[in-house]
This record gives sequence, structure tokens and C-alpha cells, in this order.
Amino acid sequence: MNALAHQTAAEFEARFGYAPAGVWSAPGRVNLIGEHTDYNEGFVFPFAINRRTYAAIALRADGIARVASAFSADAHEVPLDKIKRDESLDWAAYPLGVAWAINRMATELGRDFSAAGFDCFIESDVPVGAGLSSSAAIECAVATGLNELWDAGLTRSELARAGQLGENEIVGAPTGIMDQSASLLGVADHGVFLDCRSLEAEVVELGFARDGLELLIIDTKVAHRLVDGGYASRRAACEDGAAIMNVSSLRELTESDLAAAEAAMTNVTYRRVKHVVTENARVLETVRRLQETGPRSIGELMYASHKSMRDDFEISVDELDTAVETALRHGAVGARMTGGGFGGAAIALTPIERISEVTNSVYAEFEACGYARPDVFAVSAAEGATREF
Ligand code: GLA
Repeated sequence: MNALAHQTAAEFEARFGYAPAGVWSAPGRVNLIGEHTDYNEGFVFPFAINRRTYAAIALRADGIARVASAFSADAHEVPLDKIKRDESLDWAAYPLGVAWAINRMATELGRDFSAAGFDCFIESDVPVGAGLSSSAAIECAVATGLNELWDAGLTRSELARAGQLGENEIVGAPTGIMDQSASLLGVADHGVFLDCRSLEAEVVELGFARDGLELLIIDTKVAHRLVDGGYASRRAACEDGAAIMNVSSLRELTESDLAAAEAAMTNVTYRRVKHVVTENARVLETVRRLQETGPRSIGELMYASHKSMRDDFEISVDELDTAVETALRHGAVGARMTGGGFGGAAIALTPIERISEVTNSVYAEFEACGYARPDVFAVSAAEGATREF
């Protein structure tokens, strides 16, 4: 029995006065490699983690959506056909946004669920603001539940698209499709290798435990927000770079095009392009090495990815760099910042016998630098979104 799932149902009942029709859950994700490649139609390799968000849901007959959660005192109530971008929605933009998106996708198929509103209560043990996609976990738990209750018949890939659409249009964050894909398609002990152009996904065994490794998350506690300008400006630079090179997306370029790119654009735009092109190559090489030589051979690719984000894409911060360097110095096989950047978390692939040394060294180094105390904890690759009961 999953305690948090049952607690979510009880909280739903306390809030709305009746029992939910069911509880659905979806995991957060960590990205092993492939950063800022998703919206460039490139490759990503994230995995779903063993931290989940739970959504207790029941349909209503009056077209109203009511959402409440354990992490905020604010409940929100809005007619389904009136959902639109609105800052005052705050966290509720994630569940309401995905409900709006499923409806919009259904309209294209000649269907309409807006008469059947819903009540929803959300609980979560995915850390918020750590770059572990607590937002995608909300979207995917709610999407999986509504898809079933509305009998919408969307596939998991379509639900991922609905999550992204809601986030782009209702939350207002111009994010790609990686987070929702990981949350919906994850498999225990496997990474989700996704081609963001074809949307073909393949799960690839990670084999960390078998090789005596654990993936540590170092949550720097530096707040990152994807609706702020840094993410959007990186995306815009990638689009400029593609236009200058006369290709539909940076996916169309390879390392052999980089000299021409360097000659054709400003140095800043070139470095953004270079990051994306080399990062795509690193994802493919990571998958190949995992399959052929195992996880201990991917460390240098992780660190190369970090340096590319630090120096070329310029989305790291001092706390992330300190986390990565300290972990590597104390025995991590590989380390890099993960997620959108400008804060959030770093990851460190660490031999089990070095976990306490890496953890304690990171705490000590952060203290010596005068940074806030980070959170350091291990995650493992878990199943994607599912119905709990
Ligand atoms: C955030 C976005 C993703 C992706 C990453 C960077 O997590 O939500 O779509 O772009 O940043 O790789």
C-alpha cells in the first residue's frame, strides 16, 4: 500500500466532502544528459525518479474545475472552458493547463470534455524548484487521471504533448517535451532515450546498481524559474543560429558544420549552437557506452556536458560548478548540472563506497563558500505515470 497515495485520497475527501474516483501518480525526472536539446529537435536521455506526485480526482457534472494541494493553502476554481494564462493561477496553472490542453487536443478530434469538470487534490514528494520537474509530475499525474476519467484515449506520447502545451500556453514557460516524456515513459532501472524530432523513445538499461553506483542529486537551493528570461533567451539564440545556418532546427547540424557556423554568426550565438550540436553527440555516445561498456564509462561525457553548459551555453551558477567540482574531486565518476539551469540541481554518479565522502565534502565546501546548505540525496530510476487505485 502506498501511504502517500492513500493520504492524497483522504485529503481529497476532507477538502471536497466525498471520495475521489481514483488516485494517479507520476514521477519527477532527472536528466542524465542532453540539456537544452529537446526544443532543438535533438536527443535527450532523462529518467523518471523515485519521487512522485499524486492526484486524487473525481469528475463533476457542471464544467467547473476545482484544484487544491497539500503544498499551498490556495484552492482554485474555474470553469473548464474559461481556463487561460493568468498569473494569479500560480501553481494551479500546471493542473489546469494540462486539462485545458487535453480539451484542446480533443476538440481537434471533434470531442469536448468541458461539460465534465473535475475536483482534484494534489500531494507530492518531488522537491520543488530543484530542477527535478515537480511541474511535469503534476501535469502527468493529472493528465493520466483525466485521460482515463474522460475516456479521452490519448497515448502516452500525446499526454506528454498535452503537458508541454499546457505549460507553454497556460503557464507561459517555453519549455520542450523532455520532462513530460520522462515522467510518462519511465521504466525502473532504465533511462528514456528520446529523439525529440521523431518523438521515438527507447528505454535503455542504466545498470547503476549492478556496477556499484548511485546517482546523487545535489540540490543547490538556488531558485530557478523557467518563466524567467534566461531560458527563453537561450531558446531564441538557438532559433537565430538555425535560421543563419538555413536549417529548420539545430538538430540538422553536426560537428562538421561548426566551423561554418563560427564564421557566420556572433560569438555568443555560435557558442549556443556549439553547445547544442556537441550535446546531441554526447547523448548518442552516452547511450552507446552504457550499452557497450557500462555506466562507469560515461563520466567524462557528463563532465564535458557540464563544461559546455558552463562555458558555451552559460547557464550554470557558482553553486552548481562547486557541486560538480567537489563531487569529482571526492570520487564521483561523473557530474554535471541538470535541468534548465540558473540554479536547481547537479547530479553526481558516485560509487557506493564514496557516497558519504562526496556528500560530506559538498556540505563542507558549500559552508566554506558561504552558500546555503544544499540537499544531497540519491535517486533511482522508477516507473512512469500510473493509476494507484
Ligand atoms: C527544462 C525544460 C525542458 C528542457 C530542460 C533543459 O527542464 O522543461 O524542456 O528544455 O529545461 O534541457
